[in-house]
Amino acid sequence: MSQSQDFIYLSPPHMGGQEQRYVQEAFDQNWITTAGANVDGFETELAQYLQAPAAAALSSGTAALHLALLALGVGSGDEVFCSTFTFVASANPILYVGATPVFIDSEPNTWNLCPLTLEKALIDRKQKGKLPKALMLVHLYGMPAKMREIVEITQHYGVPIIEDTAEALGSRFHGQLLGTFGAIGAFSFNGNKIITTSGGGALISADNQLVKKAKWLAQQAKDDKPFYHHSTVGFNYGLSNISAGIGRGQLQVLEERIEQRRAIFNNYKNLLQNIEEIEWHEEPKGFFSNRWLSCFTTKKGSKISPEDLRLALLKENIEVRRLWQPMHRQPLFQGAESFGGEVSEDLFARGLCLPSGSALSLTDQERIADVISKAFLA
Ligand SMILES: Cc1ncc(COP(=O)(O)O)c(C=O)c1O
Repeated sequence: MSQSQDFIYLSPPHMGGQEQRYVQEAFDQNWITTAGANVDGFETELAQYLQAPAAAALSSGTAALHLALLALGVGSGDEVFCSTFTFVASANPILYVGATPVFIDSEPNTWNLCPLTLEKALIDRKQKGKLPKALMLVHLYGMPAKMREIVEITQHYGVPIIEDTAEALGSRFHGQLLGTFGAIGAFSFNGNKIITTSGGGALISADNQLVKKAKWLAQQAKDDKPFYHHSTVGFNYGLSNISAGIGRGQLQVLEERIEQRRAIFNNYKNLLQNIEEIEWHEEPKGFFSNRWLSCFTTKKGSKISPEDLRLALLKENIEVRRLWQPMHRQPLFQGAESFGGEVSEDLFARGLCLPSGSALSLTDQERIADVISKAFLA
């Protein structure tokens, strides 16, 4: 291991400069709680950015997905279709509400949910007489899913979409921001995301009532009475006013962060253009990724596996990650039904995410590309 070289993290936070000012204001006003001017400001500014009527600021992206399911009335006895190729946080909330996940495979271009497999699964359920209560649709690594087909199919069957946009804030499909296609869009501001609140999340909807309901559930579902009165299970899922202050500063630099991450992806491509075994995660025409993480797969039959690369990079103090292991392969979801699965399994076998933090220097990008080149050319 090269002890002298600094460790390069996969996707560390990158402050813009104004965050501490908002945090200081919260201290000055003594609003050290889950309400205050930063929570209100963050919700308004996020909704403005997304051109949504309202947003609810929450303690995590996972909480946002959980509340999205509840706001849509998903519960025990319901099925929820879910992208199999994702992080477990997309699927766990389906279990929280007592529903049953049914996993849908990816298609190989965007790596996201395959519209053809989705249609097959919906036809199957229609024939069996019960449609899923919702579709948990994930946009991985910033890449938009094939929204035209997916929206058309789900509208045809009347199944609402929850867009898990945790990794894709600022990404666009033919100019429209992700998170605004579904009944509800959910976001994460975890420390590794394109912008962060240290930990946090949010949800938006074109239907103000859904946002109101989610916020109400996030604040212990107190009934409208002058005393504590509860008729529904509630949660404590509000975002802290301190964290929201960080988020307000971060929102100001979001577009810059997207440009920086996109430049990193292009630079990796350029630096590694001679390595024929690498296939980059390319945007189809009209798809605009925030490039949260720069990812590639190795060509089928490549002598070098993603695990070989991961170990070679780790030896040089560089953190990389394998692509997500699909949900239908997880022991947690053993026995769950899955439509297809081969595409996501293949992506898992061949894919890697490179360090993509927006403050990553050109020298570090070269250092990373160098290790990769050497591994392939050895
Ligand atoms: C696809 C996806 N969904 C959901 C989440 C959950 O977000 P959080 O960590 O804020 O709970 C994450 C990230 O952590 C994610 O990558």
